[in-house]
This record gives sequence, C-alpha cells and structure tokens, in this order.
Amino acid sequence: MPRPNADVMRTREYTRALMEPGQTEIEIRDAQGDAEVRRFAEVDAESFAGDAAANMRWLSAAVPHAPLRLAHTDGEIVGGYMLLPVGQFFGGRSVPAQALTAVAVHPAWRRRGVGGALMRDCIAFARERGAAVAPLHGATVRLYRRWGWEVCSQTLRQIVRTAALTGFSGSGRVRSNPDRTAVEALRRAHLVRWDGPLDRPDWFLSVQWDPGDGATPRFEYGWYEGDTLTGYVRYESERQPGTWIRLRVQEFIATTLNATRGLLGFLGGQESQSSDVVFVHSALVDVSPLLWLLAEPHRNLEVQGFLCWMQRIVNVEAAVAARGWPARAAGRVELEVTDPVTGVERLVLEVEGGSARVTQGGSGAIRCGIGALSAWYSSALRAQDAVRLGLLEGDAALVAEMDGLVAGGLSWMPDYF
Ligand SMILES: CC(C)(COP(=O)(O)OP(=O)(O)OC[C@H]1O[C@@H](n2cnc3c(N)ncnc32)[C@H](O)[C@@H]1OP(=O)(O)O)[C@@H](O)C(=O)NCCC(=O)NCCS
Repeated sequence: MPRPNADVMRTREYTRALMEPGQTEIEIRDAQGDAEVRRFAEVDAESFAGDAAANMRWLSAAVPHAPLRLAHTDGEIVGGYMLLPVGQFFGGRSVPAQALTAVAVHPAWRRRGVGGALMRDCIAFARERGAAVAPLHGATVRLYRRWGWEVCSQTLRQIVRTAALTGFSGSGRVRSNPDRTAVEALRRAHLVRWDGPLDRPDWFLSVQWDPGDGATPRFEYGWYEGDTLTGYVRYESERQPGTWIRLRVQEFIATTLNATRGLLGFLGGQESQSSDVVFVHSALVDVSPLLWLLAEPHRNLEVQGFLCWMQRIVNVEAAVAARGWPARAAGRVELEVTDPVTGVERLVLEVEGGSARVTQGGSGAIRCGIGALSAWYSSALRAQDAVRLGLLEGDAALVAEMDGLVAGGLSWMPDYF
C-alpha cells in the first residue's frame, strides 16, 4: 500500500499560501473583481483551446453561486478552479457536494506543482464549505488520482441510428422550454434512485447550459402526459461541415414508459436531416435502456468512451452520515485509510437500519486509499474487485462483509460539468 506523504496544509480561512521546496510561493484565494475573472477566462481558454469571451459568459453566470479560486504567483494569475455547490445522490439521499470544474494552469506555469497546490486547496476548501464529496470529470486522471480521487466510470457516448427511433411513440406530447423549476424537481425525484447523479440547485442550467457557445442551436423539450411533466430532453443541433445535422443530447430524463417512447420517437422525427442521435456524457444510463427497447440494438447502437467521472470523499464522517444505506444491511468494518493530504487514519464504519456512522480507532483490518474508498462508497467499485486491482487489502470474509454494506446501488453520472 502506498504510504502518504507527510504533507500538511497551512490553511487560513479564505487564503492559503503553499510553498514547495525551492519554489516560488503560490497563493490561492477567491477571485476578486471582474478583472481577475477575465484573466482566468483567458487562462482557461488557452488551456482548453476555447474562447475567452464564451468562458467569461459562463464564469460570470457562475460566480454569484460558485466560488472561483485563483492561484497567484509573482503577482500573476497562473491558474484556478471552480466549485459548484450541489448535492449528489447516494443510497436515496442527497449528500452535500462541491463539484470541481474548470481546473486550469497557464501553459507557462505547468509542471511546477501549481496543479497539486490547487487540488490541496480544493480539498480543504470544499470541506470547509460543508461538502462530504467532490466529484469531477478528469481530463487527466493522473493528477487527480495522485491527490486522492479515483475513477468511478468512463462517461459514455451512445450513438444510435436516428432511423431506429422513428417507430417509437407514447401517449402525451412535447412542449418546448418547460419550466426549469419543474424540470429540476422531476429529475431530483427520478435520479435519487441511482448513486452519483447531481442533486442540482435550480440555477444549475443557467450556468452550465444557457451561456452556450452562441453558434450551435440548442433546444429543450418537456414530455407532458396531460399537464404533468414526465420527461425532459435538451440537445444541441450541430451541423457537420458538408454533411448532415448531428443531434447531441445532453440530458434525457424519462420517468414513464410513455415519456421514454415519446421522447425517443420525437428525436426519431429528425431522421431526414440527422442520421445519428448522440447521447453524450452518459446522458443515458451506461447499461443502455436502448438494449431493451431497440429491436436490433447491436446493429443500431454504438458506444464510445470519453472522460472519466472521478470521485473523492473530502470528509469521511460527513459522507458516511449523509448517505442512505440499504435498510437490511448491518455490520461493521475496521478500516485503515490512506489520504495523500491528511495521512493515515484508522476508522470504524458501522451500518444499521439504513444509516451509518464512523468513529476513530479500530484495528485497520481493511486497508485502502481514500480514492478506492470513494469509488466503493459510490457503488462504482466492489471491495472484492478492488482487492484484485491492488487498491484494497484485507481478509476475504471481511471484504465480502464490506461489500454487503452498500450492496444494491447502481452508479450513474448523467451530469456533465
Ligand atoms: C492538468 C493541469 C491543471 C496540471 O497542472 P500543473 O500545474 O502542471 O500540475 P502539477 O505541476 O501539480 O503536476 C503536473 C506534473 O508535473 C510534475 N511536477 C510538479 N512539480 C514539479 C517540479 N517542481 N518539477 C518537475 N515536475 C514537477 C508532477 O509530478 C506532475 O507529473 P506527472 O506528469 O507525472 O503527472 C494543467 O496541465 C492544465 O491546465 N492542463 C490543461 C487543462 C486541463 O486539462 N485541465 C484538467 C481538466 S479536468
């Protein structure tokens, strides 16, 4: 098992200064004023080959809700990240989370530890703000894994031939631009059944969707059975150079069979201009519902992998207390958890009657890193599989007992941020 470095963060309430041996001091603090946000929009644009004006639009929409933390060195803004305050569903309950996004370091300042300093700041800052977990989509798994995140799944693009959707229909009808509050309420009530979906605040789409790139047409539709909203789809309609339209579905929530079949048939209606519909970023559950709905799924459905959803517990006690646990699960595991930021800790996890708690101490009979524990907590990695992957150690019977404590959860990350 890897041993932690004895890294200790020097923290102040809202400002942190980190010094790597022999290096310039990096100070990380909240963005102050438009000029700093604009400079980060440029750093981010250079990092992702994006457009600074488009970045500024979404950063300006986000800043009232979400802290933007910036790294300063020698009076320059050299990098930063943003945390979106959300919940995340686990075991039927909403766990307080800070979703990490827009991690970037200016190309001229890379490979000097700024990224690492941002991660350490993020872990402490998310915890200070009451988060138990900090999910992200990793363009580089290596960086995040080093700092205690672990992969839960690779987000999938499901590409389905539009012609295969034309035969679907359901009772009800589509209406454009459904009320956002109703959409968020619908998805909360539906997605609580999985482990991992974000419990989004009502402003979420005003930050993640509305600013857009200005060039690609985008649409939102609700599925109504009578006056009741039972489904929701939002997509971009992208014209491919010299060819057809490609529909990129960013979100697809269908709570009834009518909504499922109705919305699929609605997308199928684009067949004359769009040969494919792409459900991006795991908008559909990874084990595709289309396997059961299409007559010939193996001919009409193709799946491609994209970025990984990674998860990190930033406060074990809070994460364990906030999650729902299976009502019939009961037992205890004695853990030794290695965290690259806070060190090695022995913990006893006790589950009973649908809830759980953690106390300090115990024998440390099961040993793992905080990343493997986070993936297990998210129902993405069974402890018994983690043993075979070199991510967890312990007696086989104890490992099986540990898996019994979360058994039954199905992980899914339908949100992209
Ligand atoms: C990913 C990113 C944020 C990393 O930032 P960074 O400041 O270079 O990160 P670090 O310096 O902490 O670590 C990067 C590497 O430099 C190494 N490094 C850190 N300090 C070093 C030093 N003083 N000397 C030599 N190497 C060093 C690290 O060990 C790490 O090595 P690795 O290649 O084995 O992973 C940056 O590359 C970036 O902005 N990329 C584009 C945007 C992006 O992909 N963001 C992530 C989105 S999810």
